[in-house]
Amino acid sequence: MRGVTVKPKSQAEIEIMRESCVLAARTLQLLEGKIYPGMNTEEINRIVHEYIVGHGAYPSPLNYHGFPKSVCTSPNQVVCHGIPDPSVVLQDGDIVNVDVTTYFKRFHGDTNRTFLVGEVRPEVRKLVDTTYECMMRGIEAVRPGGRLGDIGHAIQTLAEASGYSVVREYCGHGIGYEFHEDPQVLHYGKPGTGIRLEPGMTFTIEPMINMGAAPTTVLEDGWTVLTRDGSWSAQFEHTILVTDDGYEIMTVAD
Ligand code: MF3
Ligand code: CO
Ligand code: CO
Repeated sequence: MRGVTVKPKSQAEIEIMRESCVLAARTLQLLEGKIYPGMNTEEINRIVHEYIVGHGAYPSPLNYHGFPKSVCTSPNQVVCHGIPDPSVVLQDGDIVNVDVTTYFKRFHGDTNRTFLVGEVRPEVRKLVDTTYECMMRGIEAVRPGGRLGDIGHAIQTLAEASGYSVVREYCGHGIGYEFHEDPQVLHYGKPGTGIRLEPGMTFTIEPMINMGAAPTTVLEDGWTVLTRDGSWSAQFEHTILVTDDGYEIMTVAD
C-alpha cells in the first residue's frame, strides 16, 4: 500500500469524534426490540432520522453522493446500501442490516448491525452470529505496529472456515472529518501486509459475509447491492481507534 498516508488524530480530535460515535451507537441501540415482522424499512429510516436530528446531529448518508435516505436498510440477500422504502415490508424469519452514520461536531461515526426479524432459521442465525464474530476477530487483530492485512486475514479465516464467503467489492475505511477516508480496510488478505497501524488512526471494520458465493451486483437504482447468487448476507460494523496498546471500539452506546 505504498503511497497511502494516514494522519493519526490528536487526543482532542478523538474526544470529539467519540461523541459522534456514541450517538451512532445509541441510535442502533434505540432500534433494539423495535424491528418486527410487518414493519417496513421506511419506518426504520424515520426512527433513525428523528433521533439523530433530535440530538443536533446530521445523518451522514442523506444526500451522500445522492443517497436519498438517512440510513441504509439491507434485508436478506441485500448486502449493503439498501434504500429504506415503504414497500419493503419485513417478514417473519428475515434479517435486516441497519447501517447508521452520524455527523456531529464535524466528525462522522459509523456502525451497523444485522437484526433478526421474528423467528429466524438456525442456519441463518448462524450466519449472523458468525459475521459478528468475524468483525470481532478483525477488531482483535488491531494493535499499534500491526498491519492492515492482519485484520482482513483474521476475518477471512473465520468466514471461510465456517463455509461462508467474504464480499470483496466493499470494504471498511478511514473515518473522521470525512465519511470515507484512507485507508481502505479489506476484509480479506494476508497477515503482515498493508500499512502499519499507528495510535490515533480511526477506521471502520465492517465485514459483509455471504452464505453463498462472494460476487455482488448493483440494482438499477444505483445503490442496492445484492449477492449475485441470491444467497443471504450479514454485516456488522464498528468505528475503531488504534490505541497505544491495542484498540478502542468507539461506537459503543455507554
Ligand atoms: N455506512 C456505509 C459504510 O459503512 C456507507 C453508506 S453510503 C450511503 O461505509 F450513501 F449509502 F449511505
Ligand atoms: Co462504514
Ligand atoms: Co456504515
